[in-house]
Amino acid sequence: MCGIVGYIGPREACPILLKGLHRLEYRGYDSAGVALINNNGNLSVYKSKGKVADLENHINDKDISGTIGVAHTRWATHGEPNTTNAHPHYSQSGDLALIHNGIIENYKPLKQEMMNQGRTFQSETDTEVLIQFIEYIKEEQGCDLFTAVQLALKNVIGAYAIVVIDKSNPDRLIAARKGSPLVIGIGENEFYIGSDATPLIEYTNKVIYLGEEEIAMMTRKGDLQVVNLENVAQTPLVKTLEMNLSDIEKGGFPHYMLKEIFEQPDALLNSMKGRLNTEEKDVLLSAIINHRDRIMKAERVIICACGTSWHAGLIGKYIIEELTRIPVEVEYSSEFRYRNPVITDKDLVIAISQSGETADTLAAIQLAKDKGAFLYGICNVVGSSIPRATDTGSYLHIGPEIGVASTKAFTAQVTTLMLIAMAIAKEKQTISKEYFHQLVDELQSIPEKIRRILELNDKVAKYSKIFTYARNFIYLGRGYNYPIALEGALKLKEISYIHAEGYPSAEMKHGPIALIDEEMPVVVIAPAHSKYEKILSNVQEIKARKGKIISIITEGDTAIKELSDIYFEIPSTIDCFTPLLTIVPLQLISYYIAIAKGRDVDQPRNLAKSVTVE
Ligand code: M6R
Repeated sequence: MCGIVGYIGPREACPILLKGLHRLEYRGYDSAGVALINNNGNLSVYKSKGKVADLENHINDKDISGTIGVAHTRWATHGEPNTTNAHPHYSQSGDLALIHNGIIENYKPLKQEMMNQGRTFQSETDTEVLIQFIEYIKEEQGCDLFTAVQLALKNVIGAYAIVVIDKSNPDRLIAARKGSPLVIGIGENEFYIGSDATPLIEYTNKVIYLGEEEIAMMTRKGDLQVVNLENVAQTPLVKTLEMNLSDIEKGGFPHYMLKEIFEQPDALLNSMKGRLNTEEKDVLLSAIINHRDRIMKAERVIICACGTSWHAGLIGKYIIEELTRIPVEVEYSSEFRYRNPVITDKDLVIAISQSGETADTLAAIQLAKDKGAFLYGICNVVGSSIPRATDTGSYLHIGPEIGVASTKAFTAQVTTLMLIAMAIAKEKQTISKEYFHQLVDELQSIPEKIRRILELNDKVAKYSKIFTYARNFIYLGRGYNYPIALEGALKLKEISYIHAEGYPSAEMKHGPIALIDEEMPVVVIAPAHSKYEKILSNVQEIKARKGKIISIITEGDTAIKELSDIYFEIPSTIDCFTPLLTIVPLQLISYYIAIAKGRDVDQPRNLAKSVTVE
């Protein structure tokens, strides 16, 4: 969703800010803007609807001098996406400018109060209300900006990550956060700010993740002061970023999504590194080792997640129940948080989130925490909110995922859930030693098998073009591959804008079969496993109604292959690991159909990478 960049130091700010905005484009946005305190002392705000490139065109002939500034990409919440509503927003006097991620929930009464004080508003945003309120407090109380920000934020309900600049003090940048992340990069007498680390990475690897309800003041001399809303000084923890610039560049691929699909073999190896020990035939997860008693005592597992992460959670349910016999419920975070669920201190709640910032999942775990459940986070973005809000967890260790459509994070989430299930099963001795060893060996071989599937790339590219005509797709899968049917359909919807639905194969005859005719592409996920014969019957039913069958089958299959219009073969594996293989051709199918339809696969319309509003 919205993106934040800020800079103060000896260099020209504008090129740094614009480059930072480009780095944040993956988050999804509809307008962009920049504010600079120019060398002549003016505070200039430039904004434009559309892409960062539109903003760059707009400021071509403007004064973009200055060594302090803030910039923003906006994903509209309050007010339509237009130039007026874009950030930064000026205060009434024009002396202050502010950028903001999050939502100020009590903006309406605050706005009314400000209007009663004679303040006028240009935009429909909650953000403009906040900067007006800050200026009002500054003037009323005769205090400095740092204090005014503190006082204003004490009266604000909602979530925010903000950065403020003040024309009358070009040597100081102020930032604060609650509920929305903010990273401060530390250079030589300079500071960079980002809503995540991607805009900072090429300048510094020394960062501070600002804590909840903390306010930071950075000066041109290199001083950094952090306090909480009660003005108590905080000691910020300086961390070293593990990311490289190459992690956030396309590396020769036309899109991040394709790069990330191809990164999966290495990504999964990294996720398993130090955790899957094939020599000792063991699974070691520090989260489980450190909280062994609490986790082993769990009488139930509740998985909370959204979107693709929810699909990973569903596979997690299947494998945790199969291997450990602990009952598992998988919840949409957005439903869970509002439906007064039964949660006890005997529950283990696993929150899955690539970004670690999904607002609904954060709220769901807060609820579970209040009821005494033990919280385990599975996240990718290091230092994000969910890992900080949970009792323990496992990072994916797959580097940044930039494409809006989640690919490598999904397979890494599934892998991590498999490791968790195996570790608990071993400890509880719910599976035989022989089967456990077989699982260890087979999981180790999955990255190489994915590498082989990626060799299908050209075949997928060639055949996917055929389906650009389709207005609908059906995806069918059974058992471990039912969630893959859901995930395959979601991938196609997100980036090609073709309507697609996933079903458990056997459900087809309870309704969806009515949709099948000679135009309907049906993707059948049918790796060889115990229910193969049942899927074969489903395929025959589709064939009888002239549906177009695209199948994902195991090498050596003949029966489904013969009935298929197009088939993609995957290596064989143990049933529970098939989702890690079957999803890969589906990711490629979505990608190539979207490309053939001319879609913007990395930044599909209306979507955001990190959904920080509910
Ligand atoms: O960052 P999270 O994993 O919490 O995000 C959850 C969903 O918003 C996300 O998976 C979304 O469905 C993706 N665009 C899927 O490709």
